[in-house]
Amino acid sequence: MNPFPEDVFTEPEDVDPDTLANLGPLRALAGVWEGRKGIDLNPKADGPERRAYLERIEMQPIDPQANGPQLFYGLRYHIHINTEEEDITFHEQVGYWLWEPATGLILQTLAIPRGQSALAAGRAKADGSGLSVRAERGSTEYGITSTAFLEYAFRTDSYELQITFNPDGSWSYVSDTMLSVHGRTEPFRHRDRNTLSKVAEPTPNPLALIEAAKRGAPELA
Ligand code: HEM
Repeated sequence: MNPFPEDVFTEPEDVDPDTLANLGPLRALAGVWEGRKGIDLNPKADGPERRAYLERIEMQPIDPQANGPQLFYGLRYHIHINTEEEDITFHEQVGYWLWEPATGLILQTLAIPRGQSALAAGRAKADGSGLSVRAERGSTEYGITSTAFLEYAFRTDSYELQITFNPDGSWSYVSDTMLSVHGRTEPFRHRDRNTLSKVAEPTPNPLALIEAAKRGAPELA
């Protein structure tokens, strides 16, 4: 059944400009984070390679976004990863986390500078302990697109991310990217895991700062 309204143009009125107050389960991800105990399993010519990594993630609130009647609150994120042994970037990723309060839908967009992007969707766990999102190659809604070389050599069939909110305010993730590697018969589970601790609070979104300045609340501006 189609859950969408006939009127696809009219945007919601009286939208609260304060994103940090409306992020639902994504509120636990807002801020700047670091983790020093990441573990990556990646495909190499002579077999899986296991590497420890250092990670920094910035997740900053953006202004509320409307697709006609559909309203999202969200975070813009940047992940940067390197290793103790080498200064060169080990993994780099940008995108958005989005929360639709009306339905509980959670979206993560991913762009990776290998010529790959994905839109993953999911929900929070009912007990508030975390959330998960998933994308699958071939889906026109929550899918994965890759450059022709990756499609040939490291076809990416699915992506799944599980996040757990820890009692001390840190959070942990396990990310599984299923690759079909050229010349191999078995699928390869490219798995990454880490725990992130907060190193800085988020900066309120631009509209929240403007509204706060109008109200004469310069401590926010
Ligand atoms: C913490 C997160 C991640 C880390 C540290 C990481 C790291 C790596 C490393 C070191 C390689 C091997 C690179 C090489 O041999 O040139 C690799 C390969 C690959 N990764 Fe990731 N990755 C991460 C997440 C992801 C995600 C989320 C995706 C896609 C949704 C992805 C897609 C791929 C693909 C398609 C390859 C094979 C391409 C190749 O080896 O050139 N990775 N990754």
